[in-house]
Amino acid sequence: MLRRLHHEQPESFAFTPANQAWAEAQITKYPEGRQASAIIPLLWRAQEQEGWLSRPAIEHVADMLGMAYIRALEVATFYFMFQLQPVGSVAHIQVCGTTTCMICGAEDLVAVCREKIAPHAHQLSEDGKFSWEEVECLGACANAPMAQIGKDYYEDLTAERLAGIIDELAAGRVPQAGPQNGRYASEPAGALTSLTAHEQGRAEHNASVALAVAQGDTIKRINGSEVPLITPWQGKVSPAQGKQKEPKPAAGKPVDGTGVSVQQARAAKAAVPAASAKGAEAVPGHAPEMLKAPRKGGADDLKQISGLGPKLEASLNAMGVFHFNQIAAWDEAELDWIEANVAGLRGRARRDDWPGQAKALAGIKGDKGKS
Ligand code: FES
Repeated sequence: MLRRLHHEQPESFAFTPANQAWAEAQITKYPEGRQASAIIPLLWRAQEQEGWLSRPAIEHVADMLGMAYIRALEVATFYFMFQLQPVGSVAHIQVCGTTTCMICGAEDLVAVCREKIAPHAHQLSEDGKFSWEEVECLGACANAPMAQIGKDYYEDLTAERLAGIIDELAAGRVPQAGPQNGRYASEPAGALTSLTAHEQGRAEHNASVALAVAQGDTIKRINGSEVPLITPWQGKVSPAQGKQKEPKPAAGKPVDGTGVSVQQARAAKAAVPAASAKGAEAVPGHAPEMLKAPRKGGADDLKQISGLGPKLEASLNAMGVFHFNQIAAWDEAELDWIEANVAGLRGRARRDDWPGQAKALAGIKGDKGKS
């Protein structure tokens, strides 16, 4: 398929102030002279804001990164993740049409899109609320057929279920993501035949569905205020920030070998209200140890801690906190860092003694929860 810029283009593009600040912070992740490496996240954020990438948006990002327009256009037109024409104001439905999904019924899903949205891919529905396209394998073949809507995967679909999902979206609701046939994740359709103990004590949803449920709305446009602007990696100067001196970064505990700790990267991505107003202020305390993913056996139900609800649990999970014994191990400096970096805490972690509660829930004896 030819990927061309849309024939109708807006006059101009500007990030919202919050998205502009976020974009400038992303640029600081890269060494001097390598700012062009930030092009994917910046184009993606422009798309999250507008729904699609216009020529002014692509050129705005190119200007921010000091790139020739043609270089930015090459990236935007190469990757299918970038939409080059307006998409539905409510949702753009990406139906996987690759082998596994095709065998399992993707053509029926495309037929639903043709009937309920528009006859052709990338065509807006009459009310402008929906659009659709067929995409290549999205990596969820074990749950075929499937479609991506917004940030979430809707798996194990039938034509009837997809039609229902579109109706729910049209009615202003966000249907629960994940398997639509009652499966927990990608276990055998006829239930587990081994490792059945794994089913006991598991959370209500698998991790990605749990995050989607906690966030509540993963199809809306992003104005930037939903996302934390946490930049403890700073100490470098971005082109957009001129030659301002950046504050010294808070000490973290890099665990992924990239120089940027997992918690920093995850915190920047977590879709929760943020400590963004802190911008370039020094972050108090120091970051506790984070994990890239829950350990074997899955994440603990952190909501068992008094004062820790689903939103805070999602924030902590996004940063890399999954287990009681991680929280049990927080010392005073780490509590300072958590209080400063998790929106909505307002002193709750210390006031409600989360480390003490977590220690009890983890069955840890002694003074420290580190294990
Ligand atoms: S073939 Fe559809 S997700 Fe892989």
